[in-house]
Amino acid sequence: MPHKFPNDFLWGASISAHQTEGAYKSDGKGLTVQDTRVRDNHEIADFTIASDHYHHYKEDIQLLAELGVQIFRFSISWARIFPNGRGEVNQAGLDHYQDVINECLQHNIQPIITLNHFDLPQTLEEIGGWSNRETVDAFKDYAITVFKAYGQQVKYWLTINEPNVMLLVDQKILGKQIPIDEKYQQFHHLMIAEKYAFKLCHELVENGQIGPVPNISLVYPATSKPLDNQASLYFNSVRNWAYLDFSCFGRYNAVFSDYLKQKGVTITFAPGDEALMKENFPDFIAMNFYTTVTVEKPTDKNNMTEGISDQQSEDIMDWGFYKGVTNPYLKKNQFNWTIDPDGFKTTLQTLYDRYHLPIIITENGLGAKDDLTEDGKVHDPYRIDYLKQHIEQCLEAIEAGVDLFGYSPWSAIDLISVHEGISKRYGFIYVDRTEKELKQLARYKKDSFYWYQKLIQTNEIPPERR
Ligand code: BG6
Repeated sequence: MPHKFPNDFLWGASISAHQTEGAYKSDGKGLTVQDTRVRDNHEIADFTIASDHYHHYKEDIQLLAELGVQIFRFSISWARIFPNGRGEVNQAGLDHYQDVINECLQHNIQPIITLNHFDLPQTLEEIGGWSNRETVDAFKDYAITVFKAYGQQVKYWLTINEPNVMLLVDQKILGKQIPIDEKYQQFHHLMIAEKYAFKLCHELVENGQIGPVPNISLVYPATSKPLDNQASLYFNSVRNWAYLDFSCFGRYNAVFSDYLKQKGVTITFAPGDEALMKENFPDFIAMNFYTTVTVEKPTDKNNMTEGISDQQSEDIMDWGFYKGVTNPYLKKNQFNWTIDPDGFKTTLQTLYDRYHLPIIITENGLGAKDDLTEDGKVHDPYRIDYLKQHIEQCLEAIEAGVDLFGYSPWSAIDLISVHEGISKRYGFIYVDRTEKELKQLARYKKDSFYWYQKLIQTNEIPPERR
């Protein structure tokens, strides 16, 4: 068998609305929790202009066509369609995404649309956000509106981006800490909203396919000590399986339920939730993957932070259950995130074994500081290395029997990182701005652009770097 990707494998590139669009108050858009979020570091770019993709979308899609992608993953900003989260529809918002979709299709690029990517309308946040059941109703109306508007043309849909990460690192993503009771009531509402999205997509979009889009990272035990293994069982469950078991099996995972019981958390179900959970399922799983996680069983309450020094581990501390530690076998990137291509393959295999659904990668990539040379080049061999190693593992996973049908890395164009500004760049396409200086926002193709272009053309991983 040739060591290459199947002919019908879908290559893509991904972005989200708030990290790229800017135009945060244009054409009737309402504010979102990302526009109002209190950020600890005011020296970094906010989302008001971002990469100005709202005004540059034609140029960006033209560049993606040149890159050769068959799919483009982007999200719709709910507050462009419903400035107040619900109620009156903003026609200008609907028209904007219609134009974006048309532009994609003219270039033979299929949109794959995320319904919501971290940017809940602010008006809904003011009634309690995902803690309030009314937000689920508002989400249903929003989903019906966009499925009806675009369902003729768009067949691939994603539900709510990374509810797992959103709740686990609430302070970083939402700018506030959510008390544990409320957090897991939000979990329930988010997952119920997702179930409605499955149901509505299947009812309203002819031949439509929809999947959940969590961030999945296998959790390793720090040692072979039985209690470290138990810590990884719990964190795997709380971080990964609780979400996907709900989406794919329609149930609360048993380890997760025990975690909630030990935490004294009780979740309120509304009439009909049980049936909804058990009757509506995804067509595929969209997986975002950056790194794996390593935990140990914490034994010293006064010393909970000792040994923690990587970005992911800092967020993992739950006395009695698990504590994140640095994995000594893995290298880290410039931003202190561990790099684990082998873990990527194992994560794919674990996911496929567990759920037996087709998988598409909708995020994977390297955040790094890039330099634009005077002659308009960006030499990013580090990004090519990262992508090469991870894409190689995708191919190995396919050869090992995983039904992986596409790869859409993060990110198409440079965007504003969730909490580290524009200096942490992910794109194949460089956007010329700094944290504070907008410059011309001109676009430049990085070396990784040409490398990925060649991969897409041949379905083989190019051996050389450019
Ligand atoms: C994912 C999010 O978790 O991680 C993206 O879906 C985000 O929105 C990406 O940009 C990388 O994280 P960061 O913090 O580097 O932007």
